[in-house]
Amino acid sequence: MIIAVFNQKGGVGKTTTCLNLAAGLARKGFNPLVLDLDPQANLTISLGCTNLPVEKTIASFFLDKKPLDPLILKLDDGIRLIPAHFELSKVDTLYGKTPHIAKRLKEGLLEDALIGPDPVLIDCCPMLGVLSLNALFASKWLLLPVSADYLSFMGANRLDRAVAVIENALGRSIRKHVLLTRYDARRRFSQQIGQQLQERYGDRLCKTIIRENVSLAEAPLYAKDIFSYAPHSSGAKDYGDLTEELLQRGIIEEALQAS
Ligand SMILES: Nc1ncnc2c1ncn2[C@@H]1O[C@H](COP(=O)(O)OP(=O)(O)OP(=O)(O)O)[C@@H](O)[C@H]1O
Ligand SMILES: [Mg+2]
Repeated sequence: MIIAVFNQKGGVGKTTTCLNLAAGLARKGFNPLVLDLDPQANLTISLGCTNLPVEKTIASFFLDKKPLDPLILKLDDGIRLIPAHFELSKVDTLYGKTPHIAKRLKEGLLEDALIGPDPVLIDCCPMLGVLSLNALFASKWLLLPVSADYLSFMGANRLDRAVAVIENALGRSIRKHVLLTRYDARRRFSQQIGQQLQERYGDRLCKTIIRENVSLAEAPLYAKDIFSYAPHSSGAKDYGDLTEELLQRGIIEEALQAS
């Protein structure tokens, strides 16, 4: 099962969600594969991998047609990572107009038999360009974090329209789940965004809400996920609940069927 974590709005919690969902799944005994498709490489850095040469990163898959499998780093906590590099920022300018470029990632994953019982999570950059299109073309699921602010909510509306165009091109639907992040119950506006998301997305809005929690922002400084950095924090509770909810919603069953 491949899940793209995407919103073209920046700073809504895509990377935080990828990191801690992968850690949550690893704690459940899975070996999730996380792909960092963001030239900022925030996920790679948050997982403690720094100063990697470009040929050891997913940039070499896109720029030099290297296979994906040898790029996988097996981390201590059961997570497998294909890291990012700043050179990824060249992909859009180099390949923006190449036909079928959006299918490269899916083909690469299939060629190396990386679509199996273990979930694949893709951390996207905040832009709907070649890299994010590759993620969406490869994915059956889209997890759309929406932070509890007005601009993020508007970003989700824009993304709905973009996803409809992509689904049309793909000839299949992408299963979308919306996740409310950075929620602060003391702010009336947070509650209003929550209600509007509920009205708009109904059952596709995750029941789990990710609250604003300083430990979530601190953990990457120590190259830790929330469960090891602050196991009793609200962030650990929320991402633990999200892991359970997505498992109940069938990500693993579908992954087993796909393998
Ligand atoms: N629930 C939360 N509580 C507190 N801080 C958070 C929370 N979620 C994310 N953050 C912090 O907000 C910032 C942005 O989060 P994150 O990097 O996950 O967003 P993003 O959508 O991946 O951003 P980008 O679009 O730049 O890739 C980070 O500093 C992160 O630590
Ligand atoms: Mg990010």
